[in-house]
Amino acid sequence: MKIKLDFSGLTNFVNDSELNEFKNIAPEKNKLLHDKTGKGNDFLGWVNLPNEISDIDIQDINETANQLQKISEVVVVIGIGGSYLGAKALIDALSDSFHFASKLSQSVQIVYAGHNISQDYIFELQNFLKTKKWSIIVISKSGTTTEPALAFRILKNQLESQFGKSEVSKRIVAVTDSSKGALRMLANKENYKTYIIPDDVGGRYSVLTPVGLLPIAVAGFDIKQLVEGAKSMYSLTVPEKQNNIAEQYAAARNALYMKGITTEIMVNFNPKLHFVAEWWKQLYGESEGKENKGIFPASVDFTTDLHSMGQYIQEGLRNIFETVISVKNTKYKVEIPLDNENLDKLNYLSGKQVDYVNKMAELGTKLAHVDGGVPNIKIEIEQIDEFTLGQLVYFFEKACGISGYMLGVNPFNQPGVEEYKKNMFALLGKPGFESETKTIRERM
Ligand code: PA5
Repeated sequence: MKIKLDFSGLTNFVNDSELNEFKNIAPEKNKLLHDKTGKGNDFLGWVNLPNEISDIDIQDINETANQLQKISEVVVVIGIGGSYLGAKALIDALSDSFHFASKLSQSVQIVYAGHNISQDYIFELQNFLKTKKWSIIVISKSGTTTEPALAFRILKNQLESQFGKSEVSKRIVAVTDSSKGALRMLANKENYKTYIIPDDVGGRYSVLTPVGLLPIAVAGFDIKQLVEGAKSMYSLTVPEKQNNIAEQYAAARNALYMKGITTEIMVNFNPKLHFVAEWWKQLYGESEGKENKGIFPASVDFTTDLHSMGQYIQEGLRNIFETVISVKNTKYKVEIPLDNENLDKLNYLSGKQVDYVNKMAELGTKLAHVDGGVPNIKIEIEQIDEFTLGQLVYFFEKACGISGYMLGVNPFNQPGVEEYKKNMFALLGKPGFESETKTIRERM
């Protein structure tokens, strides 16, 4: 197994019987996912997904990715929430931190749009694309979400004027519903290559569908290994599996929550994992935050944020726990050199690797935070690669479903997300929202 959990940082905070209360019910909650008998059971297509992705599916996605790579220097991935975060998280984690500047990568540059409504962002993106060969992957399950629809309209327009209408259908791939939504209608009409997001897979559980796999393949990464990793985690987390890490993580979170520890901070000591935490926040926040319940998911990048959020974590309100994604092996080695003058007094570290210092920072932080009243869960991953990230993605998804069922909510809906949309449509005067427009304008 490439992922190991360490719960030694919980002993001061939850006792065995508190943990066992949740460990004992974990297999039955897990079984609800596999048997599709729990809340939200029409959105459980993700559970068996790793086993259903065939080599033919992967080959087809890789072929489309190759075609896009051949004609593009840049591919704009348009999407928001679950239609954006998974791809962004895995591409960032796997990419060389400076590959765009140093051209270390052979693959195309991936940029994102439709995940905000910032005019300056769109303007600057349009400007950047003016001199590039570029293409679009537009991703929207509903096909009607405002942010990506707006970005797609603007960028499609630009693509048409840069490359001509006839060329555009080669430069757009749509990932959407099999039959519903405006994007599906447009894709059919304009003859775009399309991929389907299965009906029973919700946005935040869709990274192992073409939603995540296509952009990740275009970025030059091995999606077969990603799926293999997810498959192996499937076998490790089925309900009958002993020492089931998804069940253990879900149990620990709920035991902490029952003690009033209501914020979970996802910690990394490697900035490449910043967006893995963003993806995780969406997964857990949208799945559990409902019915006035749920652990609030937050995140920090250490050691960077030890110089900002570190103070709060050490001594602020004691309602937080940390979950650290610890990367056992780095990809490269950097040794600290000897300096004869030693003005910075760092010679005691000369000959050591930078990662040794990072690991000691990690351990020192764990001890300090546990001493300061912050429970700690460590998730150790062997290294950052496609297989391990595939395992990590499926591990978090599985644990999230189990954890949501322990909490008693439906982890697969997101009714609260509609509220801002209703107000925005009312304020914008969208046809069909006339009475809401009248009511909201009276409030202004
Ligand atoms: O997880 C979810 O369901 C959401 O975050 C959606 O992915 C997000 O709102 C985008 O929806 P769509 O793909 O329909 O544009």
